[in-house]
Amino acid sequence: MKMRCVVCSSEYPALAVRYRCDCGGTLDVLPTPFDGTLQRFDQRLASKAPLDRSGVFRFRELVAPGLTAHVTRREGNTGLYDHPTVDAYCGVGVRLKHEGENPTGSFKDRGMCVAVSVAKQLGMAGVACASTGNTSASMAAYAASAGLDATVFIPDGEIAFGKLAQAMAYGSRTLQIAGDFDDAMRLVEQVCHERGLYLVNSVNPFRIEGQKAIGFELLQDLDWQVPDWIVLPGGNLGNNTAIAKGLMELHAAGLIERLPRIGVIQAAGANPLYTAWTTGQDPVPVKADTVATAIKIGNPVSWRKSLRGLVATQGVVEQVSDAEILDAKAVVDAAGIGAEPASCATVAGIRKLVASGVIQPGQTVTGVLTGHLLKDPDVVVKYHQGGHARSNAPTRCGATLDDVLAAL
Ligand code: F0G
Repeated sequence: MKMRCVVCSSEYPALAVRYRCDCGGTLDVLPTPFDGTLQRFDQRLASKAPLDRSGVFRFRELVAPGLTAHVTRREGNTGLYDHPTVDAYCGVGVRLKHEGENPTGSFKDRGMCVAVSVAKQLGMAGVACASTGNTSASMAAYAASAGLDATVFIPDGEIAFGKLAQAMAYGSRTLQIAGDFDDAMRLVEQVCHERGLYLVNSVNPFRIEGQKAIGFELLQDLDWQVPDWIVLPGGNLGNNTAIAKGLMELHAAGLIERLPRIGVIQAAGANPLYTAWTTGQDPVPVKADTVATAIKIGNPVSWRKSLRGLVATQGVVEQVSDAEILDAKAVVDAAGIGAEPASCATVAGIRKLVASGVIQPGQTVTGVLTGHLLKDPDVVVKYHQGGHARSNAPTRCGATLDDVLAAL
């Protein structure tokens, strides 16, 4: 396995402690030729072997094939849901891949199982990340499974409660930085170099390799029929980079006949990719502000790789307001699917892209819900007690049968 710089094309051995090129550019793991067929991955669905049961390592020839020290928790294997009220809300039929069903409740487990496996294989003593919450929850759990020391850098007071709870519970050393995610990201890269910790943010090219499996498993769910659209939220921009990279590799290997278009949805208060995409300029960092704390990121690390995938897939970038995110979330939640705020940018974005005619009636549309509803219970309770159009506040009543019947 080799890695190549996305800026200057310099190459490096892949299984080494390196996240960037000497020129500062981010790195890609180069694909290893695969001479099998997609049916091999279908046959593994009937297997009980731990690697076959993983929704990441089931595709191991396409995801870090040089690995030998796998750490797996049966990640992936997430549901693909549809619901008439979501379709009506979006104005098109939508299938939602619920990555909140991963072991720690977000899509991060797909990249993390690979990055932590690499850390183990390289003999690293510890791993570290900066996080808006889900990466830290995932890293903490996988590091604990692998017996590695874990250090997380989170922006103080800006991560959802469920995620903070996970980082502490899984035993990581948790540093609450008096700054935002972008400050935490800048610091963690420096600290990893100083202290010899393995950095597992999505600047780590192996995180991207694992997250490619979201796209693989989504296509497998659809019997390898490529949808017209895959829509997902964008923060640090690793996930859309990964899904596009994986599908571009399948396409280049002749395993699928066409590529889906990728739609990346940003919160309007954290929209550097949206601005770059619409102006044709490189992204300009912003001071991020959104209710969707998972994507409250003003200076995304993976923007260059992200744009590459968007160009290759004839993708689009859209932005949605916090009000649109919360409204879409109320619809996704009340459909019994449920997801955290950032995830619901996907549905708000699909609705907006349908309304503007970018997504056409009759097209096959899939979306990724990136995190579990219970990650951020505060937002849910506040919304439903806040008198919004779709609020569903609890009714207070006395403790007698008459009181209860009257309240009903
Ligand atoms: N949705 C959720 C629930 C997330 O946690 C994140 C990122 C994203 C979407 C955006 O994905 O960064 O690959 O564009 N969360 C990171 C974290 C930054 O630290 O947990 P992206």
